Amino acid sequence: MIVYSEIASIQKRIQSFNKGGSVGFVPTMGALHKGHLSLIKQAKLENDVVVVSIFVNPTQFDKKEDLVNYPNTLKEDLLLLKSVDCDIVFTPNPKEIYGENVKAKTFDFDGLEFQMEGKYRNGHFNGVGTIVKRLFEIVTPTNAYFGEKDFQQLQIIKKLVEKHKIAITIIACKIFRESDGLAMSSRNLRLSKNYRLAAPFIYKTLLKVKDLFGTKNVEEIVNWVENEFKNHPLLNLEYFEIADEKTLKPAKKTTSNKKYRAFVAVFAGKIRLIDNISL
Ligand code: PAJ
Repeated sequence: MIVYSEIASIQKRIQSFNKGGSVGFVPTMGALHKGHLSLIKQAKLENDVVVVSIFVNPTQFDKKEDLVNYPNTLKEDLLLLKSVDCDIVFTPNPKEIYGENVKAKTFDFDGLEFQMEGKYRNGHFNGVGTIVKRLFEIVTPTNAYFGEKDFQQLQIIKKLVEKHKIAITIIACKIFRESDGLAMSSRNLRLSKNYRLAAPFIYKTLLKVKDLFGTKNVEEIVNWVENEFKNHPLLNLEYFEIADEKTLKPAKKTTSNKKYRAFVAVFAGKIRLIDNISL
């Protein structure tokens, strides 16, 4: 496994590999856990060479304190990456990526960016679009892997490559969960004991939603979920939506020729958790 922090050196290395072979790419912000590793393992199975980037992207944080508090576990991350036989790691610093101008570009994702997370995290998807496009230009992968855990981000990246005619295949990877159902996230470690014990309620609720979908209408399900969280002593619901998988617009009436997903964002104390399920 080789670690690069300079664009020129990683590009040189990738170009020497890139003669007809496939390059799999997994962008991350580090603080790696088994959810990240599941993407890397899939990429290893499907490509000749796998590149993982670790870069805490300043332009996608709407709150400065979240950026400052983002965990830095580079030493442990590199050990984990070695354990799954990652080939190349890219760990640039902000200057290498942005130069002196640490600013996001503005993107038009056909409205995907205004739904759900876009309403609560100002400018977030412009930051994500900016860094992912930049990393794609540097790494020039064949395939890039994104988790369904951040389903809206995944759809936005698919839109990014479609609109900018970028010749990279975007591969969606299933949500990797703890044994009690909680979706793996670097934020889970920051939950105090009570909140950690309460958090699997989120996925349990989504599973019930999946059961109810088909027997109850969307409005009834939304009311039921809101009520479940109102009655919960520790978890505060920020939003719950049933939305069309493609447009991410909230579904009012459902039709059999479209796919739907339920999306949720919840505060466990100060920690914000998101999850989703296909219906
Ligand atoms: P980060 O939160 O580090 O996540 C990196 C990738 O891991 C994303 O594609 C995310 O969806 C996936 N992932 C995280 N938890 C997962 C889980 N439990 N199961 C499956 N996949 C999971 O997402 C980002 O970084 C950044 O926005 C990034 C794309 C790197 C741009 O800065």
